[in-house]
Amino acid sequence: MATRKTSPKRRTRRPALTAATADKHALYERSVQDPEAEIDFIDRVFRAARGRAPVSLCEDFCGTALLAATWVKRSPERTAIGIDIDKSVLAWGTEHNLAPIGEPGRRVQLFRRDVREPMPGRGVDVLVALNFSYWIFQTRAEMRGYFERARRALGRDGVFVLDAYGGWESQEPMLEERAVRGGFTYVWDQDSFDPITHRAVNHIHFRFKDGTKLERAFTYEWRFWTLPEIRELLEEAGFGDVRVYWDTSPDDKHELYRVRRRAENQPGWLAYIVAVR
Ligand SMILES: C[S@@+](CC[C@H](N)C(=O)[O-])C[C@H]1O[C@@H](n2cnc3c(N)ncnc32)[C@H](O)[C@@H]1O
Repeated sequence: MATRKTSPKRRTRRPALTAATADKHALYERSVQDPEAEIDFIDRVFRAARGRAPVSLCEDFCGTALLAATWVKRSPERTAIGIDIDKSVLAWGTEHNLAPIGEPGRRVQLFRRDVREPMPGRGVDVLVALNFSYWIFQTRAEMRGYFERARRALGRDGVFVLDAYGGWESQEPMLEERAVRGGFTYVWDQDSFDPITHRAVNHIHFRFKDGTKLERAFTYEWRFWTLPEIRELLEEAGFGDVRVYWDTSPDDKHELYRVRRRAENQPGWLAYIVAVR
């Protein structure tokens, strides 16, 4: 009787993720980050502003430094700095995002410090603060102070890239669930919003097919800032040219960010702000 051969290429099935086996940083990266698309966007807006390709990047609030790691892989010239206040998340990023990529990973320097402290080293081409992390600053004075430091961290023709979200649905309590490839569900929980202070508390939960959950894997206590406030504070901090990139894609499946001065109101939106030094 012929023996059935097992193809050497046959993949062994990974055990399904559960709350006990999952790593919250890996889940976060897979749920909310798209560094390739973000770097395409940064390259495009920097080229539009400066007529050349950017080389050096500083990722403020870098967390696991996924963006910095992706940045240096794009070209052997590229360098990156990542800044985060949390030692453990930087250690995770070094182990999972920088060490595995070898030489490019050695072109990333991570610093454990507050983003309001002066940035180490020479001014960079691009400074980014993404996924609304800078909304931890609660007052105009704090935000202006952070933007002034951001401007000082840039080289002579540097560009600061931030994101923001809004729309009437972004101020109401709600749970938004999205299935993520790999067998888990990402849950964005808009827990509370105070219309007097604009203090917003949001959580990220993860749910698994076996019914287990990672509740409040991440919690964000932000001031909910508006685009005019952000723009005015960037200008007060000395940025000469502040552009809003609005998603002009006709459908929900794609994104096409273009500079816009006015936009039609929408239930929920995400925009980029590009401030030129
Ligand atoms: C939502 S994560 C951002 C991760 C990633 N950059 C992204 O775009 O998804 C926010 C990070 O900001 C860090 N953080 C909070 N306050 C900070 C501060 N004052 N200075 C530096 N890092 C800070 C936290 O430790 C956390 O890793």
